Amino acid sequence: MMMANGEAVKLAIAGLGTVGAGVIALIEAQGALLTDRAGRGVQVTAVSARDRARDRGVDLSSFEWWDDPVAMAREADCDVVVELIGGSDGVAKAVCEAALDAGRHVVSANKALIAHHGTALAERAERTGAAFGFEAAVAGGVPIVKALREGLAGNRISRVHGILNGTCNYILTEMRETGRPFEDVLADAQALGYAEADPSFDVDGVDAAHKLAILSSLAFGVAVDFAGVHVEGIRRIAPLDLEFARELGFKIKLLGIAEKTAEGVSQRVHPTMVPVDAPIAAIEGVTNAVETEGDFVGSVVLQGAGAGGGPTASAVIADVLDVAAGRRAPIFGVPADALATAQSLPMSVHEGAYYVRLRVIDRPGVIADVTAVLRDQAVSMESIIQRGRDPEEPVDVVMTTHDTTEAAMQQVLAGIDALDAVVEPPTVIRIDRT
Ligand code: NDP
Ligand code: HSE
Repeated sequence: MMMANGEAVKLAIAGLGTVGAGVIALIEAQGALLTDRAGRGVQVTAVSARDRARDRGVDLSSFEWWDDPVAMAREADCDVVVELIGGSDGVAKAVCEAALDAGRHVVSANKALIAHHGTALAERAERTGAAFGFEAAVAGGVPIVKALREGLAGNRISRVHGILNGTCNYILTEMRETGRPFEDVLADAQALGYAEADPSFDVDGVDAAHKLAILSSLAFGVAVDFAGVHVEGIRRIAPLDLEFARELGFKIKLLGIAEKTAEGVSQRVHPTMVPVDAPIAAIEGVTNAVETEGDFVGSVVLQGAGAGGGPTASAVIADVLDVAAGRRAPIFGVPADALATAQSLPMSVHEGAYYVRLRVIDRPGVIADVTAVLRDQAVSMESIIQRGRDPEEPVDVVMTTHDTTEAAMQQVLAGIDALDAVVEPPTVIRIDRT
């Protein structure tokens, strides 16, 4: 056993919810192991949350309690402030800024904060020489931040993509396998501690977009550009789409996809049909998976639990151990002032195939009208399926297209939506066979 060669590293933890309690439980369970790995102990000295009386399933009695997490970040007896409150602004941001300005190291799991203010916080940390770690902010327990920043540092990365939100993958998996409704499965994800405090961040794709913006920065050496991410969530995915996907040989996944080309950087989050035998189709439940393409290494895939107290605490502690052991790498892989400002490519230039589901009045000539809209935009149909035959009720019609451009497809969708026989806006899902 390696002996501790210095004083324990002292942590002040702001936020004692799913992740904060998970971090304390991990430190309690793995104290000796952490000491071996860091060469010094890891000790919690101070904590802060809103409700001091709440039972969090961990013993807080030996820690100094602070009602004000910002004062704690500035004044508590600690080396590292661990921010596990959440939110892109407000108290979480104030905690991190106060800690960095006081020269304290910061570890955060807060992807919203980093997606909006990551570059500025990195500059702030560099000014005082503090470390700023956020392994837990992307893909829960999957160590993709360190992999991109350090393990793949010898490569130019051209693409990073994957399943970045555990809640959505859990919902899509459960809906497909059990037929349970969206709202019930979302309630499960909340009870399991997977979902954000406001779960619309998960189901509307925003959380995955936060993570994708962080990954793009690390992968491509560009400033974090959350505004450049095209974002769609899973709210409009109906059980019927999951059934049609099965019939067509696909599964539906919420993917985050970032690519760097000579023209610029594209970043998009949207539900995607992937072939049922594609490796990413096998990633189910709360599991996340991230694939990167490097010019020397080729494809590298990391997968594991994307949410939950234990996996996220594992990632938080990885950053804490780096601080404790004195291991440092530039926060986004290069100094903050070396991060480039990339040209952000609009979604309209995307090229690919599409699945479109329509609800139409089943009368003669409707399909001819729909195909005329496709013809006018030079979009080629690959297949069409009609479900049901009822002159009194609208029926579902699904079509898939050959590759086309997003710009043409948006014209098609507007044209179809304007037809009298189409009774609700079409549902569109992009197809990715790569
Ligand atoms: P929770 O909602 O479970 O916990 C948030 C904690 O912050 C609570 O303890 C709450 O106090 C505390 N808090 C809120 N406002 C204040 C305030 N003004 N002052 C002091 N404390 C405050 O969130 P999670 O643990 O799930 O998430 C924490 C962070 O980790 C977020 O940034 C989230 O995005 C991120 N994350 C979460 C993952 C997960 O699987 N849950 C995975 C990866 C990252 P109280 O308990 O008293 O209400
Ligand atoms: N709400 C997030 C998710 C937590 O479901 O993936 C992990 O970042």
